Amino acid sequence: MDKLLVEGPCKLSGTVKISRSKNAYLPILTAVLLNSKPIHFKNLPELRDIKTILKLLEKLGVKITKKENITTLDASNITSYEALYDMVKTMRASILVLGPLLARFKTAKVSLPGGCAIGTRPIDIHLSNFEKLGAKISLEGGYVEAQTSGLKGTNLVLKFPSVGATENLMMAAVLSEGETIIENAALEPEIVDLGNFLIKMGANISGLGSSVVSIKGVKTLHEAEYEAIGDRIEAATYIMAGLITNSSIKVEGFDPKHLDAVLNVLEEMGAKFEIGKDFVVVKSGELKAVKIETTPFPGFPTDAQAQIMALATQANGSTIITEKIFENRFMHAPELQRLGAKIFLKGNTAVIEGKSELKGAQVMCTDLRASAALVLAALASKGNTEIDRIYHLERGYEKMEEKLLSLGAKIKRIK
Ligand code: EPZ
Repeated sequence: MDKLLVEGPCKLSGTVKISRSKNAYLPILTAVLLNSKPIHFKNLPELRDIKTILKLLEKLGVKITKKENITTLDASNITSYEALYDMVKTMRASILVLGPLLARFKTAKVSLPGGCAIGTRPIDIHLSNFEKLGAKISLEGGYVEAQTSGLKGTNLVLKFPSVGATENLMMAAVLSEGETIIENAALEPEIVDLGNFLIKMGANISGLGSSVVSIKGVKTLHEAEYEAIGDRIEAATYIMAGLITNSSIKVEGFDPKHLDAVLNVLEEMGAKFEIGKDFVVVKSGELKAVKIETTPFPGFPTDAQAQIMALATQANGSTIITEKIFENRFMHAPELQRLGAKIFLKGNTAVIEGKSELKGAQVMCTDLRASAALVLAALASKGNTEIDRIYHLERGYEKMEEKLLSLGAKIKRIK
């Protein structure tokens, strides 16, 4: 298992280019199953999660070819409608093949994703609303079996603005008969990007970016090409790398409007930014403690919670973070404590005493965003930090050590 060795504290400088969004491309790639025509994607990020979904799609019969930075997926000849456990257990987002398979082939069998490190992560909102669209759902031996004689559009109200459920249902509605209205739909930019992709293929969708999305079913879709938005969570991570090392760096290739809540909180902490159309220049300074709670978009994203906990160790005062999306998303706290962070956990609230001096140590990744928090803390820690189980990191951060090296960090991978 590879490890990362980081020598800190370090100063960063220069520009980092943000990759295309993992959480936009994952549903977009499964949406290819709706279409019998080829789709051409630009700049798919080289991430473990993207490799996993491409492997799953190939198992279903999708033909995948790559030429330079264009990856073409052809779902004209799907040979299986089953997403098996050994695939799904490594990545929950595999559940997103359910909607497209059901809509186009009227049948699907997908392994229940099971929990993951950050929570039980049920899919009840997905399943109950597929039933409303006319699917018969049964749970057998850890698998979701879904059948339908044909999905019919209807009015759906999500009990929680679930990102995955909104995506799954939007995709299923594209080929359903009649109009589907999804109320209390998730508002994340990745949902809007999926919707824009579906429209590019010929879907009839309105209300994207609002909590009421209308999808009018169409008979067929056509060939298209697409490039997803920049990864706002990767961008937030590098912005905080600049702040935690008190450096000035430029983070480009994403839409800063997708990070309003994060930039507002960081400015409240005392950070200064130059904000452009597709970049942010980080200007650093003394940081002070704030109160943060994670909520669905446009609130503070849960996927940036671990990273700002690391940053909070360098802010003066007691930062209070309340995690309101997942029930167990503080596993980075004990690892940060090994570096000398003063963090007190009580239920879904964490109090971080700053400013504390961090010292290098051996730490271990537990989940994707926790890994990013450890890298940030290591950049600000005195001495060497050895970060183990970095396969978690590689799920969602493309070439992270190369990007940090180009910013001047002292970081290297050890086998
Ligand atoms: C997506 O997960 C993201 N993953 C997550 O990012 C992100 O943390 C999450 O949205 C919230 O923003 C991808 O896009 C691939 P949810 P998802 O359905 O769709 C509960 C990362 O780091 N819920 O909005 O699974 C659920 O338990 C990953 O890139 C139900 O109760 O998120 C959770 O508490 C981690 N029933 C909350 O809603 C359901 O049917 C949010 O889940 C579905 C969800």
